[in-house]
Amino acid sequence: MSAPAAGPSLLEIVDGSVSYGSGDMVSHVSIGLRPGEIVGLVGESGCGKSTTARAMLGLVPLSSGELLLRGKPASGNRRELRSTVQAIFQNPAASFNPKRSLLDSVIEPLRVHHRGSRAEQRHRALRELDRVGISELVAGRRPAEVSGGQCQRAAIARATVLSPEVLICDEPVSALDVSIQAQILELLAELRAEQRLAILFISHDLGVVASLCDRTAVMFAGKIVEEGAATEVATRPRHPYSLILHDSAPELDRPPTWQPRLKIRQGADDVDGRTLPGCRFAALCPRATPECEQAQPELEAIDAGHLVACLHPVDTSPGTDPERDEPDLAQPGPAGPVLPEPADSTPSGTTPDLHRSALH
Ligand SMILES: Nc1ncnc2c1ncn2[C@@H]1O[C@H](COP(=O)(O)OP(=O)(O)OP(=O)(O)O)[C@@H](O)[C@H]1O
Ligand code: SF4
Ligand SMILES: [Mg+2]
Repeated sequence: MSAPAAGPSLLEIVDGSVSYGSGDMVSHVSIGLRPGEIVGLVGESGCGKSTTARAMLGLVPLSSGELLLRGKPASGNRRELRSTVQAIFQNPAASFNPKRSLLDSVIEPLRVHHRGSRAEQRHRALRELDRVGISELVAGRRPAEVSGGQCQRAAIARATVLSPEVLICDEPVSALDVSIQAQILELLAELRAEQRLAILFISHDLGVVASLCDRTAVMFAGKIVEEGAATEVATRPRHPYSLILHDSAPELDRPPTWQPRLKIRQGADDVDGRTLPGCRFAALCPRATPECEQAQPELEAIDAGHLVACLHPVDTSPGTDPERDEPDLAQPGPAGPVLPEPADSTPSGTTPDLHRSALH
């Protein structure tokens, strides 16, 4: 692992909102990426992860707030933004021209930016492809003639061939099988270590994010509800939504008696959290109290570097749940009870059902 990232953000959204015409889909979000830092962004389908990514790429305008590149408004320097920030997506094959070889597609950005002679462009593209594990033979094939993993490697080569400083990765491994996922994650970690690339890594898998990222931001209904060191958010989530997201992730080694610690409230599945006046998670939250419905909780520090937007954060620190033998949430112990709820809370549901929305 490279040295921890420090200093100012290279690329940063400050208090940014994005509206597609029917209200804010992303609301007052702040995310900064420092050189050599990998930040994970997790959350249910439709919460606004890709919209945030598009805003960081300058592809959708902010309705309020600012996008800063090296501390200055990116809107004043679109050209620099385009060459500094590159992206890879979930389905790499769709982003390649099906009629062209992978090599031609990796050469393309060099052509567009007039980098070197044709021979130099070819040499540079082949070197970049080789670095991500694509041989010259495979590079000569078209997208339909290679595997999903090879296609994603070529997409990474195409994104890094111009030596960007920031890579936005929107669910880059979600469509790949587990062994290929691991190889792509290793490649991203190498790129960060070798080139001090700043990476935004979007996923709906807290475990994958914890293994790769330095920090994690958890998003719900267009707002960041928790943010902190990736291991801290994965092992000791404090926001009820993060805890439910954590416990709803499939784990092979859980005993049959294992129970999630918080259960989502039933019967409010169709409530759009963005329209609620108070906390956007209130309709689904088992810890909601009447005051949660009054005003939106602000993201506030609960520990050093750990921020949570919740009036009743869950205490998941070791030793707080005496019925669990193993306090480390990364390795759940035997069945534990639902955590105590605030005295005046509304009743919780009976079955964990976040797979409906959190894991898709
Ligand atoms: N171009 C668009 N026009 C109108 N609404 C949009 C547009 N793109 C996205 N949205 C809406 O904005 C919200 C956030 O979408 P977004 O794609 O950012 O979610 P996401 O978190 O990336 O979801 P997923 O995990 O399914 O990829 C959704 O309600 C979506 O329907
Ligand atoms: S306890 Fe209240 S503020 Fe916290 S997530 Fe639940 S509804 Fe929101
Ligand atoms: Mg998306």
